[in-house]
Amino acid sequence: MLITEDSAKLEISEEKKISRKLPVFYNPVMKLNRDVSVLLLNSIADIKMQIALPLAGSGIRGIRFLKELEPGKIENISFNDYKSIENIRQNLRLNGLLGDNIFFFSRDANLFLLESKGFDYIDIDPFGTPNPFLESSIVRLARDGILAVTATDTSALAGSSPTACLRKYWAKPLKNEFMHETGIRILIRKVQLVGAEFEKALIPIFSFSKDHYYRVFFRCEKGRQKVDKLLKYHKFLLYNPKTLDRKVSEHNFEKKYDYAGPLWTGNLWDKKLVGTMLKKCDDKNKKLYSLVSLINEECRVDSVGFYDLHQLAKVTGKPNPKIESVLKKGKVTRTHFLGWGVKIKCQKKIIF
Ligand SMILES: C[S@@+](CC[C@H](N)C(=O)[O-])C[C@H]1O[C@@H](n2cnc3c(N)ncnc32)[C@H](O)[C@@H]1O
Repeated sequence: MLITEDSAKLEISEEKKISRKLPVFYNPVMKLNRDVSVLLLNSIADIKMQIALPLAGSGIRGIRFLKELEPGKIENISFNDYKSIENIRQNLRLNGLLGDNIFFFSRDANLFLLESKGFDYIDIDPFGTPNPFLESSIVRLARDGILAVTATDTSALAGSSPTACLRKYWAKPLKNEFMHETGIRILIRKVQLVGAEFEKALIPIFSFSKDHYYRVFFRCEKGRQKVDKLLKYHKFLLYNPKTLDRKVSEHNFEKKYDYAGPLWTGNLWDKKLVGTMLKKCDDKNKKLYSLVSLINEECRVDSVGFYDLHQLAKVTGKPNPKIESVLKKGKVTRTHFLGWGVKIKCQKKIIF
């Protein structure tokens, strides 16, 4: 079956149900994930990038990069997939894209990465956890390069399977109103710990949670001191489920508080980059535009955790407030994590 996604044409299986058993994997739900990647790469100053797609699937992401990234951005692009490389080749041909700066590999992703000379942009987009591919990606990521990581195992990270989270991410999740933010912060810390082993500081520049997945883009800075500074932001988040009070702490115990972590307590976004992304974003792409606009508000507060207004009303015994009136109080923003959630710099009492 022939389909199109923005500039790209694609031959995919007729099978309706998306599963890892499909011979070639194309998931339309991930269009926003790809839209964000294109927009982000067009919003940074980097040019002549050597791009790696170790888990390329149908090739759709790379095809869109070749067609939609501004001229001069791509030096070369490598597609790798141990299952679908012939299909990727066909899809590139279908789009009139074959050239001596496009390379194809059909290896295990880790072998492909380790046997390469390195890349400026590596996109890890697996089924489930990115864990098996972190070390080889980070080893082969250039100084000042960008690592993009998707995780679809949100049930572990958001607290439905706390033991799985402990095993895979070495941190305790917390299933509450801001569980997806906690999950993304746990994922970030894990990626940073692997980076730390190789003296690479991986700084989140754009993060979001959507549907069944998390996505984080990291800028890599090399150096021991940079890594040491980053690790100081790995802390715990204490949470009192009765009063909804929460605080970042060096410790994981305080009377009446549950906790999540250790997790990343630094910024989730580079504000300047988000501003550029918003300026460059086509407002006809409604999903992308609304995500980037929301995050452009949210990154001004960028606090750890947020308040669910309905829950807050219950605890304080007051009627549900209108989010618009709450936003007028200043230093309060919406959050992309929850439609009726607000990020706030000051104490919750000020909201009502
Ligand atoms: C979620 S899909 C990738 C989707 C693609 N990045 C996109 O944007 O549409 C994951 C792909 O990784 C491939 N894959 C999984 N494990 C792999 C491994 N160890 N080495 C190479 N390819 C792998 C699968 O064949 C599958 O095509």
